[in-house]
Amino acid sequence: MKTKMVRTAIFPVAGLGTRFLPATKGTPKELLPVIDKPLIQFAIDEARAAGVERMVFVTHPTKSAIEHYVRDDAELREALKAHGKARLAHELEESALDESSTEVIFVMQNEPLGLGHAVLCAKTQVLPGPVAVVLPDDLILGEPGCLSEMIEAYATCSAKHLVAAMEVPRELTERYGILSVTSQEGQFFHADGVVEKPAPAKARSCLAVIGRYILDPSIFSDLEAQAPGAGGEIQLTDGIARGIDRLGLAGFSISGHRFDCGSKVGMFEATLFVANQNPIYAEVLRRYCAAP
Ligand code: UTP
Repeated sequence: MKTKMVRTAIFPVAGLGTRFLPATKGTPKELLPVIDKPLIQFAIDEARAAGVERMVFVTHPTKSAIEHYVRDDAELREALKAHGKARLAHELEESALDESSTEVIFVMQNEPLGLGHAVLCAKTQVLPGPVAVVLPDDLILGEPGCLSEMIEAYATCSAKHLVAAMEVPRELTERYGILSVTSQEGQFFHADGVVEKPAPAKARSCLAVIGRYILDPSIFSDLEAQAPGAGGEIQLTDGIARGIDRLGLAGFSISGHRFDCGSKVGMFEATLFVANQNPIYAEVLRRYCAAP
């Protein structure tokens, strides 16, 4: 069982975020908030709840605000306390990573050459064993958190690459990695292939890969051998596909609610969903919807 322990989570956050321009000209996409909580905070909380020991953020030199956000800011907390805002200071402390219990590492991807390339940039920083990859712009809400659920499932899964998956309408297959499903076993969908962004007519299923992965460490050598694929980028799905014969691949049908916060519509839906959980915002929503 020990070799299956997932000790490292990689957060690729080096992308350009073009779909959110002009907002992302000044603010990295991963720091855009759902109400007041940045996407990256949701991802950190999920990984922390799953008990990972090391978080590796793959970022870009122009996105230094991410490191600034992730590191604790004791000075700000002190300033808040001095201004009588002890509660806020406490909340900041709670959300900050305690670096005495979780290692935090930043590595640079100097050019956004694709998600697979971003993951490869973390290669020398991972602890032994399988690694988790978390895409902060795929917001997954639910209890237990998606990563906790997947790590538990991974321990019982025969495949060594496990990817979060969900059904999508056929006309949307061009936006996702799509699994070639061979059999289903509870929440596991065993697959003998995965293809990045197939046209709807060519997609082997409508089961799409979404932004949580637990991968065998040989993913790094597979990515090193990987030529650019769809969109001229080094695709993570192509690296995963390379290892299928050796390692097996399964999609894991997640229990949580997933929002594509890389898109404006997804971000808007997430905001409405989260707002609706809070009586104050829910009342605003109710009034707004009732208005003529
Ligand atoms: P996306 O493809 O959704 O992000 O990648 P993007 O390219 O930044 O966004 P658009 O399409 O231009 O709007 C999913 C995640 O992978 C990271 C992104 O930062 C995001 O968290 N990523 C993507 C990298 O770290 N490096 C890359 O080369 C590509």
